[in-house]
Amino acid sequence: MADKKKIVLAYSGGLDTSVAVPWFKENYDAEVITVTVDLGMVDLEAIRKRALAVGAAKALTVDGRDTLVNEFLFPALQAGAIYEEQYPLATALGRPLIARYLVEAAQAEGAYAVAHGCTGKGNDQVRLDVGVTALAPELKVIAPVRDWGMSRQQEIEYAQARKLPINIKSSRFSVDENLWGRSVEAGELEDPWQEPPEEAYAWTKPLSATPDDPAYLEVHFDQGIPTAVDGEAMPGAALIRHLNALAGSNGVGRLDHVENRLVGIKSREVYEAPGAVVLHAAHKALETLTLSKDQARTKARIAQEYADMVYNGLWYSHHRHDLDAYVRSTQRYVTGDVRLRLHKGNCVVVGRSSPNGLYQHRLATYDSGDQFDHSAAVGFISIYGLPVRTQNQVQR
Ligand code: ARG
Repeated sequence: MADKKKIVLAYSGGLDTSVAVPWFKENYDAEVITVTVDLGMVDLEAIRKRALAVGAAKALTVDGRDTLVNEFLFPALQAGAIYEEQYPLATALGRPLIARYLVEAAQAEGAYAVAHGCTGKGNDQVRLDVGVTALAPELKVIAPVRDWGMSRQQEIEYAQARKLPINIKSSRFSVDENLWGRSVEAGELEDPWQEPPEEAYAWTKPLSATPDDPAYLEVHFDQGIPTAVDGEAMPGAALIRHLNALAGSNGVGRLDHVENRLVGIKSREVYEAPGAVVLHAAHKALETLTLSKDQARTKARIAQEYADMVYNGLWYSHHRHDLDAYVRSTQRYVTGDVRLRLHKGNCVVVGRSSPNGLYQHRLATYDSGDQFDHSAAVGFISIYGLPVRTQNQVQR
């Protein structure tokens, strides 16, 4: 046993990765060590037991919640990273952290390879493969589902023949979730004309079941990081969880997106991201008060670049490092409070305030107390309009 090759497998407890355990033992003559990462939404102990039951030599678990929030979610929030104006990138932000834990486990256990259950047509295989090989180029990455060519039915038969304790009841949707959101695809969602059925949703209420009265809340930010809700200081993971529940109960955070995958196809995915939707709206509102016009314009371009970079699996790039440095610098004065109204699926910013706000009432007001120099506007406009006047006079 001691000289057997070792493979570290990212294990979710689902059918694919449960079948992968005996499959590796049979086809690679290797011992399998599973790693299950808690990014906010899993029952680690139940999955650990199942890993051992399907034949893992060792089942490791990691609580990645705080690291996910502090090193991935909040930097992406500060960046304003939303893919194609819809998707707050929950799955995409979780993958590089899973890659990191896989590498750490492989190195600690002396494994020659890491493995994951991604298919060959999604973005996640790219994120994991690129992530792992960026951190540990010497490791081999194996994606059995990409290689074995079994249909779902064949996988079930394979599992039954080996008496694996799997539960096949699983839904018609493919779901991935972490603190930042829930990603749902497959089943009838593959028809982009069809309205997503209610069963696709789990974190958000249908409008018919949301309260008639609006809910108001206040989020406090310290240098672009949310630190308190309604005056109560909360650590990041608890704060996100709180907003997921509150916004979800008001039907906020449902997203229906036909997106452009890195592998060149379009796919229809439904997301639930109540906390992320609230925090992005609030953060952006605070930036309207605290960033200059030029900073805001440039930052909006960086936000798109950042979102593409995350979506496309390039987290462990120097490019990300550089973008982060820019983003962090922009957040120095993004401190203050935002007031929001949640009602019937809508999240609306209704107020914002900051000790560093660039909004000056004495300059903006139309009432008495106005200190804006109206007479200076005349000379400004004359020079500002000069090139337009000149060109229109000469080039008639
Ligand atoms: N399309 C999303 C992404 O690429 C989510 C992928 C995982 N989705 C799922 N339903 N399993 O980030």
